[in-house]
Amino acid sequence: MQDKVNQYLGEIKDFSATGKEQLEEFRIKFLSKKGIVPSLFAEMRNVAPEKRKEMGLFLNELKNTAQQKVEELKQTLESKQETRKANIDLSMPAEFIELGSRHPLSIVRNRIIDIFSRIGYSVSEGPEIEDDWHNFTALNFPEEHPARDMQDTFFIEKNPDNLPDGGQVALRTHTSSVQIRTMENNQAPIRSIFPGRVFRNEAISARAHCIFHQVEGLYIDENVSFADLKQSLYYFATEMFGEGTKTRFRPSYFPFTEPSAEMDISCFICGGEGCKVCKHTGWVEILGCGMVDPNVLENCHIDSKKYTGFAFGMGIERITMLKYQINDIRNFFENDIRFLKQFESTV
Ligand code: PHE
Repeated sequence: MQDKVNQYLGEIKDFSATGKEQLEEFRIKFLSKKGIVPSLFAEMRNVAPEKRKEMGLFLNELKNTAQQKVEELKQTLESKQETRKANIDLSMPAEFIELGSRHPLSIVRNRIIDIFSRIGYSVSEGPEIEDDWHNFTALNFPEEHPARDMQDTFFIEKNPDNLPDGGQVALRTHTSSVQIRTMENNQAPIRSIFPGRVFRNEAISARAHCIFHQVEGLYIDENVSFADLKQSLYYFATEMFGEGTKTRFRPSYFPFTEPSAEMDISCFICGGEGCKVCKHTGWVEILGCGMVDPNVLENCHIDSKKYTGFAFGMGIERITMLKYQINDIRNFFENDIRFLKQFESTV
C-alpha cells in the first residue's frame, strides 16, 4: 500500500492542466466519493493496528497534496483567463479580409448588358443543353449545313423519344437558340439580349476555345430596318470602345439573317493607322448581325408580313481580349490569380 501511495504522490506532483475539463477529470479521479483517496482510506481496515497511525498520516498527506494541486491549478487557469481578457485592445485594426476581383469576362458581360439595357433591352437566358430545333432547324439551317457537323457540335445523346426533330440533343453552339425560345414564348415587339456560355468542338489554341461566351441580341417590331440595326450597333460600339469609334459593315452570311453582315470598328489602339491588334488594316471585327430571316419569324409563329427585326451576336472573350489587349484566350480559364487580379471590379 505504501508503494501505491508513493506512486500516486508522484503522479499528483507531476500533473498540470491546460483546461478546466482536464482539471475536473483529475479531481474526480483522486478526490470524488469513489475516487482513489477515499478508497485508500477505506482500505485502512486491512492495515495492521500498529501501522494504522503512520498510514493515516501518510494518506492525509496524499489527500492534502491532491487538494492543494486542484486549488493551485484552478487559480492559474483563472488568472490566465483574466490576463487574456485584459489584453483585448479594442483599438487594434481588424484582421485584413482579402477581397476577390470580378472575372474580366463578367466585367465585360455586365458592361454589354448595361449598355443595351439603357436603350430598352431586357435580358433572357436559356438552357445550355439544346435540341436540334432551337439550335439549328428553327434558325433556318439547311439539313446538310456544315455547322451541324460533328466537328463543330458536341452531341450528347441521339434520338431520345420525346424530342422534336429527330431528337438530337447537343450543347448549344450559339445563344441564337435563346432567340428562338424568346420568340416562341413572347408576342412581338421583342427587344432582348441573351448572354450565355456556348460550346464548339474546336481545338484549344491561343485564339479559340471549345467553351466560350456570347451575347446575342434581338429586336422585333413593325418597320424595323437595317438603318435601326446600324444605329443601335454604332451606339454600342461608341459606348464600349469610346467616343469617336467608327463602324463599318461588310456583307456576310448566316442562315438565320438576310441580309447578313459583320461589323468592324476602327482600331481603338492605333486609331486606324495600322498596328498589331488590327493586323495593319485599321479595322477589327467585333460581331455578326443581320435582318432576321422571315422563315425564322414564321418558325416562331410571328407574322413576317407585319413584323421585321434585326439580330446580332458577339463573343465576350473576343471583345474582352480586344479591350484589354489579352493575346491568349486560355488565360480566361486557367484561374491564375496573378492574371485575374489585374482587372478592376467596379461593375
Ligand atoms: N449566332 C452567330 C454566331 O454564333 C452570331 C449571330 C447572331 C450572327 C445574330 C447574326 C445574328 O456566330
